[in-house]
Amino acid sequence: MSWSDRAQLYRDSVAHREGEDLDLIVEWAKGARTALDVATGGGHVARRLREVGAEVVSCDPAPGMQPDVLCRAEDMPFADGSFDVVVSRVAAHHFEDVKAAVVEMARVSGDRVLVVDNLYMDDAAEAADKVRDPSHVRNYSEGDWRELFESAGLLVDEVRRFEKPIEFEPWIERSGSSVAESAQVRALLADRIEDGWITLDRIAIRGLRSRNEEP
Ligand SMILES: C[S@@+](CC[C@H](N)C(=O)[O-])C[C@H]1O[C@@H](n2cnc3c(N)ncnc32)[C@H](O)[C@@H]1O
Repeated sequence: MSWSDRAQLYRDSVAHREGEDLDLIVEWAKGARTALDVATGGGHVARRLREVGAEVVSCDPAPGMQPDVLCRAEDMPFADGSFDVVVSRVAAHHFEDVKAAVVEMARVSGDRVLVVDNLYMDDAAEAADKVRDPSHVRNYSEGDWRELFESAGLLVDEVRRFEKPIEFEPWIERSGSSVAESAQVRALLADRIEDGWITLDRIAIRGLRSRNEEP
């Protein structure tokens, strides 16, 4: 199933509509007048930032997600420093070239870059993610994230980690997995599923544009 075919499931998904990580993005974006929501999916980051008065542009390569701008994170049609804050939530594990995407996010940000994503847990969890959703590239560790930010010229000023409980059945349904694939995912994650829920490790990282760049 393509991303566009899954758009309504992502708009309706309780796991995406709310969460401690979404609240933290709003807190970390405080004071930003303009924001870019990269890989907007169901549009939850854009919605929450608009609710607090930010002028938000959303982007995503899938037309069905109905973003303001159709583009990949690795190649965005915005001028340098266009937005006070650039955010991407639970999407970077799908980017073909995450390094290029973080460099782009840093380039179009005038002040802050915020990323929230699932953390690398172990090889079985990575295999489960790939069976469940072939567009999964990989999750990264906290060390990987720090390196990605620093090599894009961002100063990492805060990192938080969360446990994100997700209901297993809707999670599988959103990806359009077959019965056989669902069984394979369930087997790979057997030791992490409890009463129909799985707990994912999630990271939020905030980077600031370096103040000592050449003008
Ligand atoms: C899980 S959804 C995003 C969830 C959303 N940010 C939220 O907070 O609810 C993942 C999104 O990543 C987008 N995507 C996939 N590859 C991408 C890429 N290379 N650049 C930008 N977005 C990408 C998909 O189209 C999809 O809308």
